[in-house]
This record gives sequence, C-alpha cells and structure tokens, in this order.
Amino acid sequence: MNVLDIIEKLKTTQTAERDELVFLLENITGSEREMLRKAAQATALRQFGNKIYIRGLIELSSVCKNDCFYCGLRRSNQNAVRYRLTKEQILSCCDAGYPLGFRTFVLQGGEDGYYTDEVMCDIVRAIKERYPDCAVTLSLGERGENSLRLLRKAGADRYLLRHETADEAHYAMLHPESMSGARRKQLLYTLKRLGYQTGAGFMVGSPFQTTANLADDLLFIKALQPQMCGIGPFIPHKDTPFRDMPQGGLTLTLTLLAVIRLMNPSVLLPATTALGTIHPDGREMGILHGANVVMPNLSPQEHRRDYAIYDNKICTGDEAAECIKCLSGRMNAIGYQIVTDRGDFRTQ
Ligand code: SAM
Ligand code: SF4
Ligand code: FES
Repeated sequence: MNVLDIIEKLKTTQTAERDELVFLLENITGSEREMLRKAAQATALRQFGNKIYIRGLIELSSVCKNDCFYCGLRRSNQNAVRYRLTKEQILSCCDAGYPLGFRTFVLQGGEDGYYTDEVMCDIVRAIKERYPDCAVTLSLGERGENSLRLLRKAGADRYLLRHETADEAHYAMLHPESMSGARRKQLLYTLKRLGYQTGAGFMVGSPFQTTANLADDLLFIKALQPQMCGIGPFIPHKDTPFRDMPQGGLTLTLTLLAVIRLMNPSVLLPATTALGTIHPDGREMGILHGANVVMPNLSPQEHRRDYAIYDNKICTGDEAAECIKCLSGRMNAIGYQIVTDRGDFRTQ
C-alpha cells in the first residue's frame, strides 16, 4: 500500500477501502499532504469557484437536558450560565444579519424543552415569513420524527446533527447510557427522508478516538451522502469530565477536510469556529483544504460568552458586523470571496 496511490484512488473513484483510509491517515507525509490539499482545493474550486457561503449562527439556548461528556453545556455543569432566546430576540438577530448579506440562519442550541414543537414551529414560520428568500437551518439535537416533520412543514430547510462518531462503542465512551449512537445515525437517515438538507459530522481527536474510528466516520458519510458535513477539533472544556484530555490536532483536522472533499465533491463543508479557535488562521487553512462555508456568529452580544461548549471560543466579544467584516477580509486575503446567497446543496 502507498499513500500516493490512495490519494489517486480518492481523486478518481471518490472512495477508498477502510484499511486504505487508515493507512493514509497514519502514514501521510508533508509533501503528500500538500498534494492531497491541492487536489481537495481544486475540487472545491471546480464546484464552487472562489465563492464562500456564509451561515448566520444564532445560538438560541444554552440549556440542555443531555450530559455529553465533552460539552460545556452538559446539564451537570453547574458553572454554566443558562439563557434562552425568545422569538423576538431571534428575529432581531435575523434583522441584524440580513443587511449584512446573510441568507441562511442556523438556529442552534442545547436540547431545551422550552422549545416545544409549537414554540419552534412558530419561530421558524416567523423567520420564513419575514425573510422568504432565506434558508432556515436547525441544529437542536435529537427530536422525534413527528416533531421533525412539523418543523419541516413550518419551513425549516436544513438540519445539522453531527453523528459525533460512527462507532457505537466509541460513542458510548463520549456519552451517558441514555444516549445512543445507533439512534443518532438512524435519525440522520430520517432527516434525509423528510426532505431536509442534512448535515452529519464528527469531532476530530475526541477522547479515545482511533484512526479506525475516523475511517469509519469517513465511510459513514460516504454511505449517508449528507448535503453538509461539519467537522472540527475536540477542544476540552474546564468544567467537563474531559477537561484534561488533549485537544484535536490541526493537521489531522485539515487532512480530514481534504479527504472529505475528495470523497464528497459537492458536500457543503464548513471551516468551523473550533478550527479557528485552535489556530488563528485555522479557518483560512480549512478553506485551502477544500472547505467552502464559514459560520459567523449572529447571537446577541450579551449571551455570546454563555454559549461555551469548549474553552477559549473565538468571536465571543465581537459584534456580528465586525465578525463578517473580519471574515470577509480573511477570505479576500487568500483569494476567496464571501457571497450573499442561500448556498443550497447542488449535485454535479
Ligand atoms: N445540542 C445539539 C447537538 O448536540 O447536536 C446542537 C448543539 S452542540 C453544542 C453542537 C456541536 O458542538 C456538537 O455536535 C459537537 O460536535 C460540538 N461540540 C460540543 N462540545 C465540543 C467540544 N468540547 N469541542 C468541540 N466540539 C464540541
Ligand atoms: Fe447538549 Fe449538544 Fe452539548 Fe450534548 S453537545 S450536551 S446535546 S448541547
Ligand atoms: Fe469573528 Fe474575526 S471572525 S472577529
């Protein structure tokens, strides 16, 4: 087996065997990684040109009934500051974002019982009524099929639900017994069936993760064929059981972004905030490895710091307008351009 042959195979067939993916991730050298990066960037340029889609992230609640071992919002974290946004506050975030060029609003939060189907459908309907040319993406964790159907009917276009890890035994090391990796993966198929543009994804370097786990994540994404894929490094949070675990690696995250791009040429692939948190130029590097989306924060200034899923999160002190200006400059500096566009999934 050799790395160059595997890269060539990824380029020509958009897939590889599990043992080849493991071999690639464990043996790739600097010059080979640069070849992989160039191939991934070329694929993204072919699909999207130098256009970068933006998504306005509205962090609507820091309340969560779950207890994921890695997340600062877990219910056992007594130090977390809890808040939830009202419909009016969420609409104000959209009002701020629209003139800045946002045409997708992502409503993300902990699994918070306050947002019943009735409350959530009302919020989605209000956004779609005020901004019919915008897409609404939900990222609210696991909800029942009927709830997801109602939200889709109310106008939600997309749903982000990272599978976190495709290996169910590994999933069980990251979550309490009440949560199930099998159920989460199944729900991703349900979301697709309900007509959502669906986003899966995983943390890179999460505790106890093996290279074989990552290969399985890549193959799960290949099989699911989601329209979006969110990956970012695991970053420890000081008030969680994983406080002393090492953070995920920059190089490994970038390598995985490039492999995902080659395996899924048209997938919408963000350079995540977590990537920008572990390295000042992390998001730019993500774009140069095949990512094509960035997700600036549109949450109200006074709550930014309280959506603390991991330590040292960037952009918590900045206004939405400052963030978009900053990101726009950063993208221009590497030859890319932020566009005012819904940025829907397109096959080709
Ligand atoms: N509650 C919803 C859910 O879990 O799908 C949405 C919000 S949750 C904070 C969004 C994502 O944050 C998770 O899917 C997870 O991958 C990521 N995340 C949580 N804790 C993290 C950490 N310590 N480091 C990096 N990413 C983390
Ligand atoms: Fe809750 Fe999501 Fe954090 Fe898990 S990752 S504790 S579900 S907010
Ligand atoms: Fe938020 Fe630079 S992207 S301040």
